[in-house]
Amino acid sequence: SDLGVVLVGFSGGQCKEGVDAAPTALVGAGLLNQIQDELGYTLHGDTEVRNYNEIRPSSDEPYRGMKNPRSVSAVTEKLATQVYEQARHGRMVLTLGGDHSVAIGTIAGTAKAIRERYNGRKEIAVIWVDAHADINTPETSESGNIHGMPVAFATGLAHSDDKDIFGWLQEDQKLSTTKLVYIGLRDVDRGEKKILRDHRIKAFSMHDIDRHGIGRVVEMALAHIGSDTPIHLSFDVDALDPMWAPSTGTPVRGGLTLREGDYIAECVHETGQLVAMDLVEVNPSLDVAGASETVRAGVSLVRCALGDTLL
Ligand code: ARG
Ligand code: MN
Ligand code: MN
Ligand code: MN
Repeated sequence: SDLGVVLVGFSGGQCKEGVDAAPTALVGAGLLNQIQDELGYTLHGDTEVRNYNEIRPSSDEPYRGMKNPRSVSAVTEKLATQVYEQARHGRMVLTLGGDHSVAIGTIAGTAKAIRERYNGRKEIAVIWVDAHADINTPETSESGNIHGMPVAFATGLAHSDDKDIFGWLQEDQKLSTTKLVYIGLRDVDRGEKKILRDHRIKAFSMHDIDRHGIGRVVEMALAHIGSDTPIHLSFDVDALDPMWAPSTGTPVRGGLTLREGDYIAECVHETGQLVAMDLVEVNPSLDVAGASETVRAGVSLVRCALGDTLL
């Protein structure tokens, strides 16, 4: 089958250098070769890593507390087009970040392509696997880092009328809050907790995984989405415990085992509903001793989502 590939060397959604090197590290570890040769996909799109950090508006002063707002907006607007171009040919789309702000663009791209494919009769669901909810608005964010806000922009809970600062997002590129499910949460800001409650957003925290086990949690997450809804899987490697993925910008202890992460990806693949996957926040320049372990974890998660099986 066909796979559109989008390799995003970008770090502007947060303040630590090095997350832009992740696509090169993942490709260097053999991910694309394995997808072609072992999993049998035909690759489309640009298989060279692009440096999106070069997309720099001449001045990029903070806006409503957001750091690098025009840069992140320009990058994600371009990504929305790139992902849409792959998805509209009926291809699954794999995006390797970069920090999690890239999901503003990737979700916009798949949301629009799926609405078009089904003449407005279907919309995507997103499974957001992460230690964090990434649903701060510019006003609730304490950091100003846009990688903590992508879900707010993707759903329209945050918006701006300035074309250069996410004002390009159209209705047909947006995600419904009812079609969003979280797995793995354990570091959610106070303002985010209120947003999750107020909008009754479905979320399975590490507490839920402890109580029910990963098998039951994935079953409940998929039941919430339903069997006729295309799925976009947005996987932040920091959902994994730092034992498995230490090289990431905002590690949080008490996370998923590598097998639990792989299991989520395997189950989403098994539904046959997967239309797009993001793998983000691998930063090989942090915890250099653990970098290859983190990259290997990322490779494993993607392979599982694309249909690699144990037997
Ligand atoms: N909640 C914090 C913030 O808003 C941390 C977000 C971390 N996000 C991530 N994609 N790793 O800054
Ligand atoms: Mn995270
Ligand atoms: Mn926190
Ligand atoms: Mn994230």
